[in-house]
Amino acid sequence: MTPRIAAAIPIARPQIGEEEKREVLQVLESGGLVAGARVAAFESAFAGYLGVPYAVATASGSAALQVAIMALGVGPGDRVVTTPFTFAASSNAVIHAGAQPVFVDVDPATGNLDPDATEAVLRGGGIRAILVVHLYGRPADLPAFRALADRYGVLLIEDCAQAHGAAVDGRMVGTVGDAAIFSFYPTKNMTTGEGGMVTTADAGVARRARLLADPRGDQEYAYEVVGFNYRMTEIAAAIGLVQLRALEARNEQRRANARWLAAGLGDLPWLRLPEEPAAVRSVYHQYTVHVPEGRDALARHLAAHGVASRVYYPSLVPHTPAYRRLGFAGSYPNAEALTRQVLSLPVHPSLRPDDLEVIVDAVRSFPGAPR
Ligand SMILES: Cc1ncc(COP(=O)(O)O)c(C=O)c1O
Repeated sequence: MTPRIAAAIPIARPQIGEEEKREVLQVLESGGLVAGARVAAFESAFAGYLGVPYAVATASGSAALQVAIMALGVGPGDRVVTTPFTFAASSNAVIHAGAQPVFVDVDPATGNLDPDATEAVLRGGGIRAILVVHLYGRPADLPAFRALADRYGVLLIEDCAQAHGAAVDGRMVGTVGDAAIFSFYPTKNMTTGEGGMVTTADAGVARRARLLADPRGDQEYAYEVVGFNYRMTEIAAAIGLVQLRALEARNEQRRANARWLAAGLGDLPWLRLPEEPAAVRSVYHQYTVHVPEGRDALARHLAAHGVASRVYYPSLVPHTPAYRRLGFAGSYPNAEALTRQVLSLPVHPSLRPDDLEVIVDAVRSFPGAPR
């Protein structure tokens, strides 16, 4: 008899249904592919979902970051505190705007930018903005960062690429900073294929962001800004409108999956599970455990049992070749420890109950677990 091989459980699986397909077909048949009613409707639905006055759709989260930073007036000569433990798009956008990232160490428990370490840098002066990333769907300490930004007179920018619908003290991420961005890349909590969004409560910032993303403006050929073409397409917006309606239910499924994993793995002394304090709503873009010893062996063991896992992130942005060439380096002990310990397990909403059982059984059967 051939042994039964468990089907591979992927780390992410975008959920695209019949409704998205129908909407996309309608766009294609309409012939109106850009800057139309669907983009406008998606912007206003997204702003309504968050409860923020303005939302500007873009071609990607990276594009949103760049136009948000530039729309806030951050540019050459400015220094922006941010995290080294993220996808490089966050600090890349600072560099593309002509400003300088100042990398600061993270909270060892959450992997998010550490407010105390940030304040130590702010005390030295010369900082224009703080760019926080809500890593893995777990909000950064937004009350602390808002207070720091106000006390030191700097801007607060939120990178919510991994955190659609996350909240602290009942306040949604993306509504607290002077501007915020979201990504709709396929693995995110909701997708448009490629796409992004800038959110802000400031009409001037929204207007500049819109012009930077689409410099055509109201008056033909009378350009107000030296902009880009970072527009979202109608096709992407049509998908986004459907995905946004499903977001809350899918976030709740992620949260239920996370509770299931916590119940199945909580007694293992060699594993540290993500925590969720009472004031925080995490939307579990990733379910990331810390494995102080044997992380890579565990990943191999899981793969052998048909369970995909990923290391987000195996290296720090300032230590990558691109950043070293620009002269970045520095020591970030908490973030460096995390690069050696973190492992993300599947938590996406299309997991079935038996997938969750396979994941828990695979982790529990790790023979390399420290005794
Ligand atoms: C934290 C973070 N910021 C920015 C981005 C960039 O978004 P995009 O891929 O849509 O350009 C991503 C992910 O892709 C991300 O994870």
